[in-house]
Amino acid sequence: MKELAMAPNGLSGRLTVPGDKSISHRAVMLGALAKGETRIRHFLPGQDCLTTVKAFQDLGVRIDREGESLLVYGQGLRGLKAADKALDMGNSGTTTRLLLGILAGSSFASQLIGDASLSKRPMKWVSQPLAKFGAEIALSPAGTLPATVKGHKLRGAEIQLEVASAQVKSAAIFAALAADSPSTIIEKLPTRNHTEIMLRQFGADITTEADNLTIHVQPGQELLGQEVEVPGDMSSAAFWLTAGAIVPNSKVTLSRVNLNPTRTGIVKVLEQMGAKISIEQVPSKGEELGNLTIETSQLAPVKLTAADIPAVIDELPLVALLAACADGSSEIRGAEELRVKETDRIKTVSQELGKLGVEITELPDGMIIKGRKNWQVKDDTLDSHGDHRLGMMAAIAALKSDKPLRLANEDSISVSYPGFFSDLEKLVR
Ligand code: S3P
Repeated sequence: MKELAMAPNGLSGRLTVPGDKSISHRAVMLGALAKGETRIRHFLPGQDCLTTVKAFQDLGVRIDREGESLLVYGQGLRGLKAADKALDMGNSGTTTRLLLGILAGSSFASQLIGDASLSKRPMKWVSQPLAKFGAEIALSPAGTLPATVKGHKLRGAEIQLEVASAQVKSAAIFAALAADSPSTIIEKLPTRNHTEIMLRQFGADITTEADNLTIHVQPGQELLGQEVEVPGDMSSAAFWLTAGAIVPNSKVTLSRVNLNPTRTGIVKVLEQMGAKISIEQVPSKGEELGNLTIETSQLAPVKLTAADIPAVIDELPLVALLAACADGSSEIRGAEELRVKETDRIKTVSQELGKLGVEITELPDGMIIKGRKNWQVKDDTLDSHGDHRLGMMAAIAALKSDKPLRLANEDSISVSYPGFFSDLEKLVR
């Protein structure tokens, strides 16, 4: 149980947030599939990314830590070796889904297992599109982990994805890379494109049409080891952006945050809500970077629909918290994927903010949130439910409380932000 900090005098200061989780996963994966050495700087040492590291070590890839850098000694696209036990995916949906795409085109069989939460999450989203490339993936009768992948040569395919998911898209791209002919993958809505950007850096032949939906993959190109500088994670910066906006007397700057437009949905939401936020672009060789400054703001309500969701998918618990502080009623729709994240985030967000007196109406695909001026604490023990983003959202909400609050199951936060509480201490005045 963790006693949560309050911030009656506000927040101030500057932080460099940890490396981006999605990009850290992909850097390890591409490093492992490339020929030669890949050095990853500002790698995120969160539990999920360490799960990816361990999985590739189990698949025979040497990966060393050197300070805060990671060195991956890739053996090329066909260099992975069968693991001598089931690969443990822990809590990581990204590791699981992307690895299914990679292992489908390998020359051996693999088994994937996960923790209780991950073992409830849908994997048919991935196995079905991969089957179009000829992949053989067996799942539990519920369509979940454990999974058995019978790796073999794949064929090129033209596929239309039914779920807007970067994880599913990335799995399909990996399968396409191992296929015997070119493939086309068409997305439902544009989702984060870190896989495509990084694959191009590693030398793959992958192009995206101007619609930002149609991706062409030409297999056969050898990937070459690279230097990767992981930018700050917008999804981690989002906690401080939210805190800065809702806690009176605050001004916070976040340095070197990834500004890839597929990830900046939270900045747009804050702007739409009238938050005082400014962006200073920083020169970068890789993905776009910037410094973000936010100040305490009067917030207007917001309405999000399906097209808005992919760029803010991981920040929706924070959008709910911002909406809970806005002047009026906000609505999130088209976000049914929230039901199958680390927890059912529609349910758990409503439950936890409900403990602070916030009125939320659950919808099948989102929620309606009624803003209020101050919290009315009905239960002083908040719970992460084992969901990192929910635990951090609760800790941010507590900053605004005039009564001490506690957090149960705070350990889950290390999944994506091991230094979260020490960063929080740095900002409280
Ligand atoms: C991720 C994609 C998103 C996101 C997850 C990480 C990725 O999931 O929620 O935290 O790294 O590709 P979906 O692709 O399922 O929306």
